[in-house]
Amino acid sequence: MKATNLTINGQRLWDSLMELAKIGATEKGGVCRLTLTELDKKARDLFASWCKAAGATITVDRLGNVFARRAGRDPKRAPVMTGSHIDTQPTGGKFDGAYGVMAGLEVLRTLHETGIETEAPIEIAVWTNEEGSRFAPAMMGSGVFAGIFKEEEIKAKTDREGVTLDAALKKIGYAGPEPVGGRKVGAFFECHIEQGPILEADGKTIGVVTGGQAQRWYEVNLTGSESHAGTTPMERRRDALVGAARIIDKVNRMGVARMPLARATCGVIESHPQSRNTVPGRVFLTVEFRHPDEAELKKMDEEFRAEAARFAGELKLGLDIQQIWHFPATPFHADCIAAVRDAAQARGYAHRDIISGAGHDALYMARVAPTAMIFVPCADGISHNEIEAANADDLAAGCQVLLDAMIRRANAPA
Ligand code: HGY
Ligand code: MN
Ligand code: MN
Repeated sequence: MKATNLTINGQRLWDSLMELAKIGATEKGGVCRLTLTELDKKARDLFASWCKAAGATITVDRLGNVFARRAGRDPKRAPVMTGSHIDTQPTGGKFDGAYGVMAGLEVLRTLHETGIETEAPIEIAVWTNEEGSRFAPAMMGSGVFAGIFKEEEIKAKTDREGVTLDAALKKIGYAGPEPVGGRKVGAFFECHIEQGPILEADGKTIGVVTGGQAQRWYEVNLTGSESHAGTTPMERRRDALVGAARIIDKVNRMGVARMPLARATCGVIESHPQSRNTVPGRVFLTVEFRHPDEAELKKMDEEFRAEAARFAGELKLGLDIQQIWHFPATPFHADCIAAVRDAAQARGYAHRDIISGAGHDALYMARVAPTAMIFVPCADGISHNEIEAANADDLAAGCQVLLDAMIRRANAPA
């Protein structure tokens, strides 16, 4: 049977999102489900059971990426894939990542219950550690799949407690047998909430995502010397926390100076020895910059390094800056962008082109397959916050566009 005007079930999508959000639910209505924890395992298991009930087969690769596959008429064709992540930030919401996975599940359920077959197989992916919160950098599962990161290098990454990713993966039983990547993907689409204010402010239901901005992530270590808060005169101190304060203020000013496009954030600070009457001798600090223009991001890198060195010199501190991740500005594929735009147009959804401010697995998949994303608005553009919210109609519209775009690509001539 050829696909006709298939419609997804928005209520079922919403119900599955709310069911999934119970795993790691927080008091304030958010979700804390860090990657490769028992909660992540529970969510993965639930996803796999739902997919099996919708007639899919499940495979897991060596980095824990989970793939639910629905056969196509032509098993030799590369699959048309969708998916996202189910790991969250510590103060995460119900929709970041989960929406893209549940939208894929809803596509699977719709095809299963209507018996519609596509030429190419369909796959739904759950990528390991998209958030990069517990283990840095971000988008590890899709990054190894796309050949950006080496598998062994990623498995050796440790969290702030010194646990390796490999050990955490094994502990939840998701160190699968399949090789990571190295196989053809016909096209990749990802649904995601925008996580910013543009679509809502513009009154648009669908964001036709044309690409993602560039990012640079750093880890900074400042070294001074511990000393007595009561006896050490100000001019004799080597206070690492003051150095960090100067850097944090400068990072923010750099972002403000480049508004509206630049982003500049210090997210993590750990000072030692955390004693109120000892001058801090050591500080660990994270810094990240983002900008759609690579050249501007490079200038931010240079300014940041020069200013941090100046502060460290003035305060007689040791300074070590490690850039742990550079993500280049990445365009999506014209054919996939057109499939998304045409589907939104055909369904009569208000839509507009948009660049992604956040990183997403689709941005790594764009290296190995024709790729595009579908954004829907979220309330006040808020995300990475427990109050993150989106409305059921918008989520359903995004999922409908996903179904239409995937069927178009899956039935296109090979
Ligand atoms: O940081 C990001 O852009 C993504 O949410 N991990
Ligand atoms: Mn996300
Ligand atoms: Mn996120």
